[in-house]
Amino acid sequence: MQRVLIDTDPGVDDAFAILLAMRSPELKVEAIITVCGNTPVAQATQNLLTILGVLDLDEFPAIAQGAAEPLVKQLVTAAHVHGEDGLGNTSQLRCADGNLLYAPADIEMSPLSGVDLILEMAARYPDELIIVTLGPLTNIAKAIRKDAAKMRRLQKIVVMGGAFEEYGNVTTTAEFNIFVDPHAADEVFHFGVPIHIAPLDATHQVVLTGERLHAEVDKHDNKISSFLKDSTQACMEFYRQHVGFWGFHIHDALPIGILTHPEHFESVDAYVQVETAGVLTDGMTVADLRRERRHPNPNAQVCIKVAAEAFLDHFFKRLH
Ligand code: BDR
Ligand code: CA
Repeated sequence: MQRVLIDTDPGVDDAFAILLAMRSPELKVEAIITVCGNTPVAQATQNLLTILGVLDLDEFPAIAQGAAEPLVKQLVTAAHVHGEDGLGNTSQLRCADGNLLYAPADIEMSPLSGVDLILEMAARYPDELIIVTLGPLTNIAKAIRKDAAKMRRLQKIVVMGGAFEEYGNVTTTAEFNIFVDPHAADEVFHFGVPIHIAPLDATHQVVLTGERLHAEVDKHDNKISSFLKDSTQACMEFYRQHVGFWGFHIHDALPIGILTHPEHFESVDAYVQVETAGVLTDGMTVADLRRERRHPNPNAQVCIKVAAEAFLDHFFKRLH
């Protein structure tokens, strides 16, 4: 069993990742921290409670709210992809009796700040805790700045972010999570704990079409299935208009798969840096992945290949 802390900005694909993680017996999700990104952080926290409300849980992870602003830049959100509320507008859906269709889980937030809860967990599980980041790396950089000694005892950090031999999804060169807070990402990548990155190069290999999603969820009449269908409508429409297919990429689910089913993923060692000064290339992740040019002192593993069908099969098995 692997102890994980998830740092997230939910986000439709964050929701898929959190549901998958909570359903994975290989993982024990000890805490979930929110961060600004797809939405402002208060909405991200609200969305997290909605996602946890979809699961029928007796015991919840510790929950805390993290950073409201990136370290240096102004916040950029992604409501145009994930819907006004960041969760495909599921927060507005009501049952016939007027009650919310997806009511938030009734759980108490930790009295600690997001950064302090990260540090508390790192200290409680030294050399064991794995942090999985599904949003900008602001909270992690702040935790490192506040208490580097505790953060050095992390087992590793698994990051969804970056684009290497693939175009970006915010600008030509930058992926969203890194673009929102490139300064934080650069600090985290150079910190020295093992980093495993699932960039767009990998996440774009897993294409979940609307047809496949609907066929899978229609097999089951339960809350998770209806949530997967309802929450993805807006973002699949965005993909139809702007990406070229009806469906979407479940980016944030990949780091969870890397932990539970490493055999489906192939990675290479690389020295990863983040552009923080460029005008055209702000937030670009830079690394030479060519075998003959590999850096002698890599700071990360970069996932370059996914057995997409196997991963999707596993994903739907776990969520049913
Ligand atoms: C990343 O950006 C966000 O919009 C998604 O939730 C994912 O974490 C993909 O670039
Ligand atoms: Ca995300």
